Amino acid sequence: MKADVVTIFPQMFEKPLAEGLLGRATNSGLLDVRVHDLRDFCNDRHRVVDDVPYGGGPGMVFKPEPLFRAVDWIETHRGEPSAVILTSPQGRRFSHAEAERLSRLSHIVILCGRYEGIDERVKDRIATDEVSIGDYVLSGGELASMVLLDAVTRLLPGAVGDERSVGADSFVRGLLDCPHYTRPAVFRGFEVPEVLTSGHHGEIRRWRKHAAVRRTLERRPDLLPNAVLDDEEREILRELIRKRGKGVT
Ligand code: 6GU
Repeated sequence: MKADVVTIFPQMFEKPLAEGLLGRATNSGLLDVRVHDLRDFCNDRHRVVDDVPYGGGPGMVFKPEPLFRAVDWIETHRGEPSAVILTSPQGRRFSHAEAERLSRLSHIVILCGRYEGIDERVKDRIATDEVSIGDYVLSGGELASMVLLDAVTRLLPGAVGDERSVGADSFVRGLLDCPHYTRPAVFRGFEVPEVLTSGHHGEIRRWRKHAAVRRTLERRPDLLPNAVLDDEEREILRELIRKRGKGVT
């Protein structure tokens, strides 16, 4: 996948893109990211990217021209993108489904919003998507676009060492993941649940399903109406709800 990021803080991307999953994906040729400095697309001496808002009010607004020129440059030199994503707290909420959709595209552009806003003509004329990563306000879109890149890249075939761990992820089926333990079996007196060290694979599978369903019910019941559950998980959920109705925890 090709990705072009446009930002006034290109240096913020250096380490996150070089380390871990994103670094590996880049080194193996799965991911081809370029980070562009928005100021390089200004045509004034002072490289000004923002201006006061029409109609007055506090804060500054990103001018349209540098962003339009940046996208023109990308189209000419890197090819026509399949999506131009603008990061903004006003965007649609980013999700696993959205990450999957983007992971199937061959070329994405991410425009990092900043300050109080961005000229609406950028949203209307060049952005295909406006995306937020959650219901809180960040000082800029840089961290959000790294979140988006990470979530999308790990879905590219071959990006994660063991594909099975992607399938087990929370949100793939709408269930939170079960707890995990590793050696030692007793650490500072705290024991690993006995079933996990028993070697009974059927019971371990059942315990994990139970733990995942219970955790989802407790922490993220909003996920359950759209979760894809198998018969066993549905039965576990019914039982947990029935017990809860009786005040058993
Ligand atoms: Cl994408 N940008 C900003 N500035 N704040 C956010 C966000 C994005 N997503 C959540 N909060």
